[in-house]
Amino acid sequence: MTQVRVLAVVSEIYPIVKTGGLADVVGALPIALRADGIETRTLVPGYPDVIKALVVAEELLHVPDFFGGPARLLGGSHGSLDLFVLDAPHLYARPGNPYVTPDGIDWPDNGMRFAALSKMAAEIGQGAIPSFVPDVLHAHDWQAGLAPAYLHLTHRPRPATVMTVHNLAYQGRFPHHMLAAFGLPPESFSIHGVEYYGAISFLKAGLQFADRITTVSPTYAREIQTDEGGMGLGGLLRERSQVLSGILNGIDISVWDPEIDPDIAARFSATEPAPRAVNKLALQRRLGLDPSPNALLLGVVSRLSWQKGLDILLENVPTILGEGMQLALLGSGDADLQQGYQAAAKAHAGRIAVVIGYDEALAHLIQAGADALAVPSRFEPCGLTQLCALRYGAVPIVSQVGGLADTVMDAGEAGTAGGVATGFTFGPVTAEALDGALRRANILWQDRPAWRSLQTNGMSTDVSWRNRASRYAALYRDVVAGRRNQ
Ligand code: ADP
Ligand code: GLC
Repeated sequence: MTQVRVLAVVSEIYPIVKTGGLADVVGALPIALRADGIETRTLVPGYPDVIKALVVAEELLHVPDFFGGPARLLGGSHGSLDLFVLDAPHLYARPGNPYVTPDGIDWPDNGMRFAALSKMAAEIGQGAIPSFVPDVLHAHDWQAGLAPAYLHLTHRPRPATVMTVHNLAYQGRFPHHMLAAFGLPPESFSIHGVEYYGAISFLKAGLQFADRITTVSPTYAREIQTDEGGMGLGGLLRERSQVLSGILNGIDISVWDPEIDPDIAARFSATEPAPRAVNKLALQRRLGLDPSPNALLLGVVSRLSWQKGLDILLENVPTILGEGMQLALLGSGDADLQQGYQAAAKAHAGRIAVVIGYDEALAHLIQAGADALAVPSRFEPCGLTQLCALRYGAVPIVSQVGGLADTVMDAGEAGTAGGVATGFTFGPVTAEALDGALRRANILWQDRPAWRSLQTNGMSTDVSWRNRASRYAALYRDVVAGRRNQ
């Protein structure tokens, strides 16, 4: 097995900086890939938390003027992750969320911030660090989208390039007049380059130039080639369908392990699920819900955004109450949704509990104590919370889109016997269809042995990175071999 060197490029990474599943994926994949002979180094921006977390920081490069200020490239590690860090204080030395100001608006110089990240990636790709010359540059989401463009636009030897779409809704669009500031040649501003409806799109650039495109589930790979799911890029993705594939995400099963989880009240396993009842009671007590073992407790752990469809769950509060169910929601995001859920919790204390914020320990307790987890997304490239739910025995109730459709098997379609069904799926993504799924779940809940078998099926589903990482390894080897034969 020949060793392949991969430079991953990304704007967030668990456990250092995380706003969503992207960070989880790029924090876990390099470790899983080692068994496949893939050596990964990940280039991330030098936000204050990253600089703090970097162990044995070694200065590898110093550039006096890099996108408007001095920059250094540092090499180091954090836990088992090998990192390159772009330390450019004028771009990244800002506290809090990596993308937005404390008032929640995009930093006005986000174009420069992530063009710089991508440019440094391209430099490393072309040999700037002789001790690590990658065979593959793997760009994640729009923040890294210019990296394949920089590489393909210079005619120097370069690594193979892979662009992964974690979410097509975020495309990184900036005005045409920024072209020179981004260090892009005038001729790159064309339909076959970085141009997108009169502006520059970083994601489009990556999709246009990369040797291979992946996304995070097979169903999302099909959806993004349609006009509706393509969000303006469907035509380009259809044109490039020969090099586009979907590889499902996994989760880090050492972070999400109910047998050793320090954040839950009682440990349990697929063969010994009974202590889940202790977690349910702990969750109810902590959130002020009635301590009823018989009410089906529905959990939600999510960003509160249009994508996640939580407005249609809010419309179903009457169903939740009428069916005698409870709801525990943890999330933050759109002000309207936050207020809507807070009002529901106030009006129905004991039955509906809402925590606005980001709280990893509580997320673990919800997965361990809720009977079911609702994910009613309008679109979902993969989704990780339903994978955590499967592993923790919270039966997922999900819309039939993207990775949700690929990872949850409906109890009605498959039946609960035979080890196949793992949850409830519904479509279209409407309040009515969700209402139907909630009612079906509550009916099955009354039949505890049937519910238990759904739970057990879910808990014995493989949601780890093991086999999924091997698919990335095969893709890397294939694209490297393809370039050698050119
Ligand atoms: P997305 O990346 O679209 O937000 P995913 O399901 O892929 O959705 O990943 C979300 C990740 O963020 C999961 O690890 C989930 O547990 C975590 N998460 C989301 N919201 C919260 C929250 N409010 N508190 C703690 N963890 C959260
Ligand atoms: C994005 C998607 C989510 C996916 C995650 C990791 O944030 O919204 O579905 O699981 O990326 O790939």
